[in-house]
Amino acid sequence: MIAAAEQSAKTGESVNTKESLMKFFLDTANLNEIREGVSLGLVDGITTNPSLVAKEGGIDFKQHVAAICELVAGDVSAEVTSLETEGMLREGREYAAITPNVVVKCPLTTDGLRATRQLTSEGIRVKVTLCFSPAQAAKAGAAYISPFIGRLDDIGQNGLELVRDIVEIYNNYTWKTEVLAASIRHPIHVIETARAGADVATMPFKVMQQLIKHPLTDKGLDQFLADWRKSVSSKPVQNVNPLKEVVNVRQ
Ligand code: E4P
Repeated sequence: MIAAAEQSAKTGESVNTKESLMKFFLDTANLNEIREGVSLGLVDGITTNPSLVAKEGGIDFKQHVAAICELVAGDVSAEVTSLETEGMLREGREYAAITPNVVVKCPLTTDGLRATRQLTSEGIRVKVTLCFSPAQAAKAGAAYISPFIGRLDDIGQNGLELVRDIVEIYNNYTWKTEVLAASIRHPIHVIETARAGADVATMPFKVMQQLIKHPLTDKGLDQFLADWRKSVSSKPVQNVNPLKEVVNVRQ
C-alpha cells in the first residue's frame, strides 16, 4: 500500500491501493432473497439483525443462521440480544460454533465493547453494530464496524459523512477493522460508500436490484431488438473453417 501511494505521489497518477473492490452484503434473513441474490453472483456475505430475523416469524435462530450459511460462502452475521457482557459472550460463542463464517454482532455499548474484546481474543470475529459517530468507532477493535447511514439521515444528520469520517480515521493508521456501511436505503448510498472507500456495503435485496436496473438500459435493449427483428435474419452457418479464412487473407 505504501509503495502504491508513493508511486501515486511521484507520478500524479491515481493508484488503486485497495486489494479488492468493495464487497456487497445482503441485509436480510430471508432465504428466498438470499438464494436470488446469490444467483446474481453479487453477494459476498449476509447481515442480519433481530428485527430482520423476527420478520421471518417462528424460526429457530441458530438453525436459520446455519441455513443461511449453507447458501453463502462469505461472512454471515448473527446478532446477540443480551445486554450484559456475560450473556453476549455466551451467545457469541454459541453462534460462532455454528460455522466458521459466522460473525458475531455486538452493539456499540460498553458491555458490547467488552464482549468484542474478549470474543476477538478467543479468535471469534465480531462486527460492532449501531455506530452513529466517529468517536464511537474510534477503537472498537473488531473485524467490522457498522456505521448506520439511513437512520442518521432519518434524523436530519448526514449518514454518509459518518462513513467518510471513519474511513479517513482508519486510513491514518494500520487498523484492521473493516468499515461495513449499514442502514442503506438506496443506490446513491452504495455509490457514495464506495467513493468513500468503505470495505463493505450491506443493503436490502430491493436496493441490490435497483443497482442493476436502469430505464435507459431497458429502453435501449427494446430498441436494439426491435431494429434487429425488422431487417435481420439469422440462418445457421455451416462449415466455417477459420484457418482457411486466415490463408485467404494472407494470399
Ligand atoms: C445491518 O447490519 C443493520 O442492522 C441494518 O443495515 C439496519 O438497517 P435499517 O436501519 O434499515 O433497519
